[in-house]
Amino acid sequence: MSSPTFFPVTEEVAAAAWVDEAKYKAMYEQSVKDPDAFWGEHGKRIDWFTPYTKVKNTSFEGDVSIRWFEDGTTNVAYNCVDRHLATRGDQTAIIWEGDNPAESAHITYRELHEKVSRLANVLKAQGVKKGDRVTIYLPMIPEAAYAMLACARVGAIHSIVFGGFSPDSLYDRIVDCDSKLVITADEGLRGGRKVPLKANVDKALEKAPGVTSVIVVKRTGGNVAWNEARDHWYHDEMAKVSAENAAEVMGAEDPLFILYTSGSTGKPKGVLHTTGGYLVYAAMTHQYVFDYHEGDIYWCTADVGWVTGHSYIVYGPLANGATTLMFEGIPNYPSVSRFWEVIDKHKVNIFYTAPTAIRALMREGEAPVKKTSRASLRLLGSVGEPINPEAWLWYHGVVGDGRCPIVDTWWQTETGGILITPLPGAIGQKPGSATLPFFGVQPQVVDNEGTILEGATEGNLCIVDSWPGQMRTVFGDHERFIQTYFSTFKGKYFTGDGCRRDEDGYYWITGRVDDVINVSGHRLGTAEIESALVAHPKVAEAAVVGYPHDLKGQGIYAYVTLNAGEDPTEELRKELVAWVRKEIGPIATPDLIQWAPGLPKTRSGKIMRRILRKIAANEHEALGDTSTLADPNVVNDLVSSRMNRG
Ligand code: WTA
Repeated sequence: MSSPTFFPVTEEVAAAAWVDEAKYKAMYEQSVKDPDAFWGEHGKRIDWFTPYTKVKNTSFEGDVSIRWFEDGTTNVAYNCVDRHLATRGDQTAIIWEGDNPAESAHITYRELHEKVSRLANVLKAQGVKKGDRVTIYLPMIPEAAYAMLACARVGAIHSIVFGGFSPDSLYDRIVDCDSKLVITADEGLRGGRKVPLKANVDKALEKAPGVTSVIVVKRTGGNVAWNEARDHWYHDEMAKVSAENAAEVMGAEDPLFILYTSGSTGKPKGVLHTTGGYLVYAAMTHQYVFDYHEGDIYWCTADVGWVTGHSYIVYGPLANGATTLMFEGIPNYPSVSRFWEVIDKHKVNIFYTAPTAIRALMREGEAPVKKTSRASLRLLGSVGEPINPEAWLWYHGVVGDGRCPIVDTWWQTETGGILITPLPGAIGQKPGSATLPFFGVQPQVVDNEGTILEGATEGNLCIVDSWPGQMRTVFGDHERFIQTYFSTFKGKYFTGDGCRRDEDGYYWITGRVDDVINVSGHRLGTAEIESALVAHPKVAEAAVVGYPHDLKGQGIYAYVTLNAGEDPTEELRKELVAWVRKEIGPIATPDLIQWAPGLPKTRSGKIMRRILRKIAANEHEALGDTSTLADPNVVNDLVSSRMNRG
């Protein structure tokens, strides 16, 4: 029997949801016909110190300028914390679940308010002012949320660096945005293993004298080196300051955070998000996409080092006064039932995770899931990469016992919030499809020449008009912003993704069409990995491509040409793998390195990645035209050594 390919909205779900099909259609239509009226109304979902009178002022042409609610003033921390005190001060804001299942904590909105206010005062005492940059390099502990909100409270721009990045990557991100202060922990804890965060910061700062203070949260109590002039224990500083702090008045377009993300060329770029539009969009999508209702326990398993953690662990849920669960650990520690046990322990209603985690847990069979109840679950979500239908069906049937709709949410660091997704009460699901656009989002499919493709089709995914959560610029490099996103197809935001649109108008994201690879839902630029490899003294040249990987979605495949006279030994292969981990971080660990005596190049010297991708994917029959290569024999050599490896 073949599996169903359409899962209609059930009457029960539609009746309980914020929007059903008719309402979705009506709201969507208004949102694109009259964005000023639509967002003018929905912008009121957050509290403004000064109400806006202008709603949308955006252009994708020329200099590209994106402004929403521009004359309004507000504060993100005020909206995520203070405004809830009167009605839900004693409600849990954050449930923290430690790496060790014996450790968890409930933080109420009142406690959150105190912590954030104190930390805001600590930042001020360290000289942090509105507009200054603060780098956050923390594990998944509540202090990460306090740190984000404290920055927002004083008007500082935070830049979170994922704990899996190396000292070198951390250094690059600190220097690029010229941070004065870093917030970190002694060590992180993941799957019972310690992550040397403070030691990594020390290493990164050897070359970054601009950082004058480091605030260190004591997480494990492990030994750390100490620089008396620069380092401060978080708990000491928090005890010194008052718990009273007035939130800074911020313009809607004042920056909220920078988040570095990989593109097809060069170093990662600092995606800049601002205050008002971002928060309205994060909060609104959190409510509608997850069909969040008062009292729900909501869990997003991402790390705050990624955009998903920003918008859907911290800002969206807290702006809505939700209870958000923050998990320090990993899906398979201490056992592969961990996710399901946490769901039962905290009675989670809404669960949002990544396909890579689902695939890894699916491999363990049904028993570790079935031994738990999961009766609290009402809705499941997926994000980060295309979800294959097998994983979707397992998620739906086994994890959700066939009861829970799945929202497959497509979006990007740049988009600030979810753009294409089912709304659970309105849009029937097809496994593997992100389905239809959210309010205000106008997708368009174009061919490589930019011709608009109508109806059922396949091509490059663009968005033709702005939505409030959109990034505003690349920090410090507006020209790069224009070049990267608005020049390939003039006047449109180009996502870098390919997609198919079916006869029902549903979107199926097929993956990146640029030189970005998506490893376990983490974005990496092939150029970054290549430049790490060629920085090794024995490497002459390198080309990196993604290839299909059962668990990770895509794996990292590196073709390496060694300097003349170097031996391609197994030791050297291991050394190069370790080298890339050191240069970028464990998330960039190459899965396969193939020695390449030569790389396929055009006569003008351009590496033909299309061919390398096919060889890596073992699609040797589909190499296409190789006649334009400077030396077509190179390809035969690569294919035969690929085939020998199996
Ligand atoms: C991919 C993560 C298919 C896509 C929020 C996008 C997805 C990139 C999905 C952004 C999805 C994310 N279906 N592909 N539901 N969600 N992607 O910036 O290629 O880390 O361009 O943001 O992930 O990754 P980023």
